[in-house]
Amino acid sequence: AFEESLTKLGLDYLDLYLIHWPVEGKYKDAWRALETLYKKGRIKAIGVSNFQIHHLEDLMKDAEIKPMVNQVEYHPRLTQKELQAFCLTHGIQLEAWSPLMQGQLLDHPVLKEIAHQYNKSVAQIILRWDLQNGVITIPKSTKAHRISENANVFDFELTNEDMKRIDELNQNERVGPDPDNFDF
Ligand SMILES: NC(=O)c1ccc[n+]([C@@H]2O[C@H](COP(=O)([O-])OP(=O)(O)OC[C@H]3O[C@@H](n4cnc5c(N)ncnc54)[C@H](OP(=O)(O)O)[C@@H]3O)[C@@H](O)[C@H]2O)c1
Repeated sequence: AFEESLTKLGLDYLDLYLIHWPVEGKYKDAWRALETLYKKGRIKAIGVSNFQIHHLEDLMKDAEIKPMVNQVEYHPRLTQKELQAFCLTHGIQLEAWSPLMQGQLLDHPVLKEIAHQYNKSVAQIILRWDLQNGVITIPKSTKAHRISENANVFDFELTNEDMKRIDELNQNERVGPDPDNFDF
């Protein structure tokens, strides 16, 4: 799969390559393959996606190299505090997928109020909250003006109080599949 992707992309190496889901009985073999490619210099960073703490613990028991990134669902309704603390302790960078909860948070009154206060959009407030929490974020848009808007989050800073207000919106609510309860 790696060779095929590299050919399709027309590249000599990848910056980052992830195991998409923690499929029981498969992810350890897949990880060994990623380690080999990393050691050969064909990938600059290797990581995982949708790994819970127990998956990471299990993987690291046998791993030579720790995952460098864990890409998980993360937004104000799913703040993943325990997982984030675990990743921080182990030097694993957390990355947020569906950071805008696929658009479902854009009308939230608290977020709208904060956005108004900073003269920013709700999307920008959420993405800035990601960054100030030390989380890499990968919002997706099909519209050029929104892609620019989503990148324009480096000219303001949320106060600790506003960070806390956003943290408090957590309801452990997923928009995507639960990694512990997913039919692979
Ligand atoms: N690792 C995994 O298992 C996994 C799972 C799911 C997703 N992902 C990745 O995560 C990335 C993002 O996730 P996602 O696309 O599910 O959700 P998302 O980025 O949270 O939301 C995308 C939705 O928000 C809208 N949007 C984006 N920017 C906006 C803005 N500034 N204002 C208003 N609406 C805005 C988009 O509409 P328009 O296009 O109309 O702007 C689209 O409907 C994707 O690249 C995806 O591949 C990874």
